[in-house]
Amino acid sequence: MAIRIGETAPDFLADSSQGPLDLYQWANKNWVVLFSHPADFTPVCTSEFCRSVELEDQFSRRGVKLLGLSTDSIEHHTAWINDIKRITQRNIGFPIIADPDRRIARLYEMIHPQEDESAAIRALFVIDPAMKVRLTMNYPMSVGRNFNEVLRIIDAMQLADVRGIATPADWVKGDPVLIPASVSNEVAEERFPQGWQQITHYYRLTVVKPVGDKTLPTRRAG
Ligand code: BEZ
Repeated sequence: MAIRIGETAPDFLADSSQGPLDLYQWANKNWVVLFSHPADFTPVCTSEFCRSVELEDQFSRRGVKLLGLSTDSIEHHTAWINDIKRITQRNIGFPIIADPDRRIARLYEMIHPQEDESAAIRALFVIDPAMKVRLTMNYPMSVGRNFNEVLRIIDAMQLADVRGIATPADWVKGDPVLIPASVSNEVAEERFPQGWQQITHYYRLTVVKPVGDKTLPTRRAG
């Protein structure tokens, strides 16, 4: 059974490039992006890791911890991380789970046997501080993910949680937002005293204050 939005993320204990890792303890009430990749030392995966290393500070500002996973071993991860350091000239602050027996990959349904019997697809889960799954994404092996889109979705979810709004198509941070249809005009007057643009009776745009940074302490090895 696939893990669905709104469900509690299954906890696990796994080996990682930064030592043994218990998901819930390690998350420590922060947001988590858990993302799998098919194999170390492959071009699409390497491009994704280089990009996630570049964006690590952006995730940290939003209170989000990154957590990679592949079905390769710790030894592979360590050698590959050294390659990524050489390419990006940066250290990787986040752990990569080694899952050679595919225990975690199976738990999170990251193996889609019609695509590949043993390697994980490009699955991605955004998990909130209450350990609820808030986003799931599955990409094919040949397509690198858009990490700016992951940041955009996290911005949208964090703003929705704090301000009680929704976001329109192609919204980016700073754009007008939507007043949910479930909020009556009477309630909207209290919640959004700044007013709104009424496009139809159910389609109302407003502007809200952004939510602040919550930068996490970083752990950058060597
Ligand atoms: C890659 O990262 O380039 C890749 C990995 C597994 C299958 C296809 C592509």
